[in-house]
Amino acid sequence: MAANLKLPNQGRIFPALVFLLSGILACTELADPEGVQRYRFENPPHFPEPTYTFGNNSVSEKGFKLGKALFFDPRLSRDGSVACANCHIQAHAFADSWLHPFSIGVDDRKGTRNAPPLFNLAFQKEFFWDGGVTHLDFTPITAIESPVEMDEHFGNVVQKLRVHRDYPERFEDAFGIRKITGPYVLHALSQFMVMMVSADSRYDRWVLGDPSALDAEEVEGLTLFRKHCGSCHTEPLFSDLSYRNNGIQADIIDFGREIITEQQEDRGKFKVPSLRNIAVTSPYMHNAAFRTLEEVLDHYSSGVNYHTTLDPALVTKGRPGIPLDLAEKQKIITFLEALTDSSFLKNPLFFQSDEM
Ligand code: HEC
Ligand code: HEC
Repeated sequence: MAANLKLPNQGRIFPALVFLLSGILACTELADPEGVQRYRFENPPHFPEPTYTFGNNSVSEKGFKLGKALFFDPRLSRDGSVACANCHIQAHAFADSWLHPFSIGVDDRKGTRNAPPLFNLAFQKEFFWDGGVTHLDFTPITAIESPVEMDEHFGNVVQKLRVHRDYPERFEDAFGIRKITGPYVLHALSQFMVMMVSADSRYDRWVLGDPSALDAEEVEGLTLFRKHCGSCHTEPLFSDLSYRNNGIQADIIDFGREIITEQQEDRGKFKVPSLRNIAVTSPYMHNAAFRTLEEVLDHYSSGVNYHTTLDPALVTKGRPGIPLDLAEKQKIITFLEALTDSSFLKNPLFFQSDEM
C-alpha cells in the first residue's frame, strides 16, 4: 500500500543514505544512541539460555527485514487478504486486538482460540496453546495452512514469492540463494520473530537492581504473586512452559494438550501463558473467557471448575480455587500491570516498513 506513495527513486537513494550514515556512526563511535536499530539477538542477563537453533539460522539485518516484510504481507494467504500482522498486532504485544476474541481469517472465518501474544519465542520449546508445534520455524506453516487463518498451501506461497518483483533478489541478498525455497521463507520469518524479546518492564528493572522501579504496593503484589501464581507462571518468563488445567472450562470442550498426546490425563490442559504485557492482551485464556484482570482474579479465587485433571496447585483444603480477598486481588493486578514493556510495544524495529 505505502509503496504507491513512494517517490520513484527513493528506493535507490535510501540505501546510499544509510551507507553514508552508518559510516558516520562508525567513525564517531556513539555509545548506542537511542533510535539506532540493532539486528543481533541479545540475551537479557536475567533470562535462561535461548532454545532457538541460532546455529542454523543466525539473525542478520537482511534476513530480519525480509522476515518482517513477509510477516506484514497478505500474499501469504489464499486470497491476499490476511497477513500474520492482522492477528498479531505490536501494540497488543503481537496478540490480536480485544475486538477479536477469536481471530478472523480469510473469508471472515472465525477461529476457536484466542491468538496468543508473540514475544520471547526464542526461549520456548513448544508452540500454540497445546504445544502442537515443536519448532518455531514450523509455526508459520500451521498459520498459513489453517482453514480459519490464511487457508493457503505453503507451496503456493513459495511460488508466489518466486514470481514477485523484489522477493527473489532479497532472498538472494539475505541467504545467498538463487531460488526461493520453503525453508528459507521459514528462516526469514523466524529471524523476525526471535527478535521479539520483551525484557524491559518495570519489573525487569527492579529485578536487575533498581529498587525505585516498583512501588511498595507493586512489591507486595509481587510477593503475593510468587506465593499463589509463581509455581506455574514462573519468573523470569512468567511461564514454566508446562501444560496445566486451570479450571477454566466447566465442560471441557477444547481438549487442549490431549489432542497432541492422546492421553486422557492431559484433557483440558493448556500451555501456561506468559503474563508479560498482560495489561495489553485482553481478552484472556485460550477461549477468551475473560475481558479484564479482575475477572481473571475472581476466577482463580472463586470460579475454578473441578475436573479430574485440575491442577493440584489450584486446590485449597480440598476445594477448587485459591481464596484471595479484594485487597490481595488488587495488589496482584497492580503488580501484573508493572509487567508492561512499553519499549517493546513501541519498538520501531518491528514497525511495518514501506520497502516492499
Ligand atoms: C487469523 C489469525 C492469525 C493469523 C493470520 C496468524 N496467526 Fe499466529 N496464531 C493465531 C492463533 C489463534 C494462534 C493460537 C493457535 C492455537 O494455539 O491453536 C496463533 C499462534 C501463533 C504462534 C504460537 C505462539 C505461542 O506462544 O505458542 C506463532 C509463533 C504464530 N502464531 C505466528 C504466526 C505467523 C508467523 C503468522 C503468519 C505466517 C501467523 N501467526 C498468522 C492466529 C493467527
Ligand atoms: C496450576 C498452574 C497455574 C496457577 C497456579 C496459576 N495459573 Fe494462570 N494460567 C495457567 C494456565 C494453564 C493458563 C491458560 C489456561 C487456558 O487458557 O486454558 C493460565 C492463564 C492465565 C492468564 C491469562 C493469560 C493469557 O494470555 O490469556 C492470566 C492473566 C493468569 N493465568 C493469571 C494468573 C494469576 C494472577 C495467578 C495467581 C492468582 C495464576 N494465574 C495462577 C496456569 C496457572
